Amino acid sequence: MIPDKVPKEDVFHGSLDLKKEAHISSFEKYKDLYLKSIESPDEFWGGIAKDFFWKTKHTGQFLDYNFDVTKGEVFVKCMEGASTNICYNLLDYNIRERNLGNNVAFYWEGNEPGDDLSVTYRELLHRVCQFANVLKSQGVKKGDRVSIYMPMVVELVVAMLACTRIGAVHSIVFAGFSAESLCERIMDSKCSLLLTADGFYRGDKLIQLKLLADEALQKCKDMGFPVKKCIMLKHLSKEAEDAALGCQSPPAKRSCPDLQEKQWVKKSRPVPQVPWNPEVDLCWHTLLCDASDECEPEWCESEHPLFILYTSGSTGKPKGVLHTLSGYMLYTATTFKMVFDYQPDDVYWCTADIGWITGHSYITYGPLANGATSVLFEGLPTYPDVSRMWEIVDKYHVTKFYTAPTAIRLLMKYGSEPVQKYKRESLKVLGTVGEPINPEAWLWYYNVVGEKKCPIVDTFWQTETGGHVLTPLPAATPLKPGSATFPFFGVVPAVLNESGEELEGPCEGYLVFKQPWPGVMRTVYGNHQRFETTYFKKFPGYYVTGDGCRRDKDGYYWITGRIDDMLNVSGHLLSTAEVESALVEHEAVAEAAVVGRPHPVKGESLYCFVTLAEGVTYNHTLEAQLKKQVREKIGAIATPDYIQNAPGLPKTRSGKIMRRVLRKIACNERDLGDISTLADSSVVEQLFQNRCCSAV
Ligand code: WT7
Repeated sequence: MIPDKVPKEDVFHGSLDLKKEAHISSFEKYKDLYLKSIESPDEFWGGIAKDFFWKTKHTGQFLDYNFDVTKGEVFVKCMEGASTNICYNLLDYNIRERNLGNNVAFYWEGNEPGDDLSVTYRELLHRVCQFANVLKSQGVKKGDRVSIYMPMVVELVVAMLACTRIGAVHSIVFAGFSAESLCERIMDSKCSLLLTADGFYRGDKLIQLKLLADEALQKCKDMGFPVKKCIMLKHLSKEAEDAALGCQSPPAKRSCPDLQEKQWVKKSRPVPQVPWNPEVDLCWHTLLCDASDECEPEWCESEHPLFILYTSGSTGKPKGVLHTLSGYMLYTATTFKMVFDYQPDDVYWCTADIGWITGHSYITYGPLANGATSVLFEGLPTYPDVSRMWEIVDKYHVTKFYTAPTAIRLLMKYGSEPVQKYKRESLKVLGTVGEPINPEAWLWYYNVVGEKKCPIVDTFWQTETGGHVLTPLPAATPLKPGSATFPFFGVVPAVLNESGEELEGPCEGYLVFKQPWPGVMRTVYGNHQRFETTYFKKFPGYYVTGDGCRRDKDGYYWITGRIDDMLNVSGHLLSTAEVESALVEHEAVAEAAVVGRPHPVKGESLYCFVTLAEGVTYNHTLEAQLKKQVREKIGAIATPDYIQNAPGLPKTRSGKIMRRVLRKIACNERDLGDISTLADSSVVEQLFQNRCCSAV
């Protein structure tokens, strides 16, 4: 399965000598350990589990599972009988056993250059305990769900860990999502409490988060699901604005000794409007000042739910992916350590937002489990200018850097000069995640950013997989630009054809996994049947990723992209059905079909075909309204790039929309392949004639 020999030519390594200190220093070592991880998982993972604290030890097998729907319910159980607390492992245990109390956990870098602070492991523990007590004081108990809608601030990490300390389940909603998306997620996971902030800046743009949170809570209430409390962090507003905020925090109490005030760079910028409803709203700082900084962790069994994170589903309704305690902890810790070859003097920076799985696994859990020092960045790669990333790399001497292909392609447009303004001497390993990286972007990242010194780890994984599943190891794997290379320890991939047969040697087909690894999702929250249908039904016995994949003659895996009705826009998955339903909710739209069209920076852009209701005429005002509608329903990432008036859509005789044909029309490709099943072929010509030529 793993080749004996890997090619020596036409592969990349990076010129730095990482082998001396590396955890996995050669391909042979990777291969040996990989085989051990598959043949004796108990021994392999058992060895890793020794580095963690367990209140009670596990009994029986390390992993117990059924992946075959035809044999009964699909399940995965890891380390039954064991109990632990992830927050205790990440903070208390690292402070006590590894003496990391004074080490920096996060260098927080705000949107505005110069607005920064750092927090040590000990400070983080104090804040987490305080906030855990706040949660308790609001009645949050083990197993309760807490919704978090916050910007990239240290308090977001505090909130996550405070939940886990008391065994509550966090459900983070990316702060770029709309009020409607937030409401849908709050209701689906039945959260009793919402944590949010007044607002934040992304570049020059003010996001009024509290207004959106209020709107979401109003919608929840209207739909019969009132959320009892909303705790708001004052991120942008300062003391002087307290009165205006209606937030009754006596100024004296604001200066808790443990609460470092952010060095808010004074700019004459508007502060967010914060309406205040005393029956629901609570002030984060006020509550914190009354809370003790000691809080006993709640010991939870291995399969206790850790968090829910929503990801797009092909039916349009997002799925609440549920991850559980022990397996996720071990898996994110191990992948972080091996894939970035984490060393104690590293400064690591992942540019993702914590609102996505990348941030959960590789900003919060994986790095903290290893006692790492990370950069936590609130801003954008292009603000105040396109050198910002490299300025930050130099400022903190970042050694391991992890970003998305879309960011690389965006910066590539500006050439090498903005990169070369900064030294980047500290860099050792570069990583990418989110979508296939085109070789051109890979080579630019390698040559210009890494100056041929740094290996690139192209990590393939999903919200569902919890952590990396196909990935190079930086000192062991010869790299091919655009390939996620080989499986991580414990992961057994296969490539299937349409009839579900496993293909051997070089091939192309469906990427599936044959057995679980500790970090794989356990269910779709509240809908186990959907979990089974989505991932296990098509090919019984396998976890189906939904991605296509090619394996080359050297055994390298190349992800070819989604093979379901999903789109990947800037590394974020969107379902076409979700966008379509937002469009048809507009009274002028009778029917909508959305396809992806390749985009040089975003990977894919949204190309929407709309059939209007009788008597409605298409014009720019309507087009603008439709875009606004989708943005408001889902969020800015789903804003359509193109909308085309489509008096008719290409359908089969049975009435199914032929998206394959629409994709060709969107790209102006006349070679349509077999269209014999098309009911009315004149529709196609009409659509070609009315194509949108440029983004509107
Ligand atoms: C989908 C999962 C994993 C965190 C971010 C996205 C695509 C992800 C790669 C990669 C090719 C990739 C896949 C996958 N994808 N990483 N390195 N190479 N494709 O998480 O939103 O759950 O999306 O992103 O299509 O299925 P997600």
